[in-house]
Amino acid sequence: MTHQAKDGALRPLLVKGFRIYQGLLDRDAQRVLLHEVAAIQRKAPPFRPETPGGRRMSVSMTSAGRHGWFSDRHGYRYVSRHPSGVAWPPIPAPLIALWRRLAPDAPLPDSCLVNLYGKGARMGMHQDRDEADFDHPILSISLGDEALFRMGNVTRGGRTESIWLKSGDVVVIGGAARLAYHGVDRIRFASSSLIKGGGRVNLTLRVVGG
Ligand code: SIN
Ligand code: FE2
Repeated sequence: MTHQAKDGALRPLLVKGFRIYQGLLDRDAQRVLLHEVAAIQRKAPPFRPETPGGRRMSVSMTSAGRHGWFSDRHGYRYVSRHPSGVAWPPIPAPLIALWRRLAPDAPLPDSCLVNLYGKGARMGMHQDRDEADFDHPILSISLGDEALFRMGNVTRGGRTESIWLKSGDVVVIGGAARLAYHGVDRIRFASSSLIKGGGRVNLTLRVVGG
């Protein structure tokens, strides 16, 4: 279901401990995932969460799996239902297959956060630390427009490195980088033809636990 694009695609680029598999998913695999995302969105429509500080995020989100990521004035957390009250749809099989391939030693993911970036959307530097066990990696899949992904350190601040993530790139955030700060400074809107009308989809698979 996921295809290796070309020789060497399985050798990741290592940037500050982040393992970046450039071009891992070919166009067909990207289209399959985009279809799965559309199906998730029909059952669990995307929404723009409010931060604990009371600001509306620029990225629209929804989730699949047992746990869905949520935020409001009361904080960041995982919840078992979409705000409408429906259960989150199951994590699509091709994503589980990709996880097995890139994180063979970890338990299967129980959460897939779907981040939708429209024109001007960005994501501030943050750690992913709402999961129970930081031994398990997070797998991040990019579809559509290019995004300037910034990677930092396990404490806020310090030197950072950035890379443009393209459609079909997959990043493993694990090991020493598991708790490293990261964010998306900006996207190049309409730089990819994968998504009609432009935009970027980022999928993060996680083991939330509990
Ligand atoms: C995230 O950190 O949750 C999203 C990263 C990305 O959009 O590439
Ligand atoms: Fe993150």
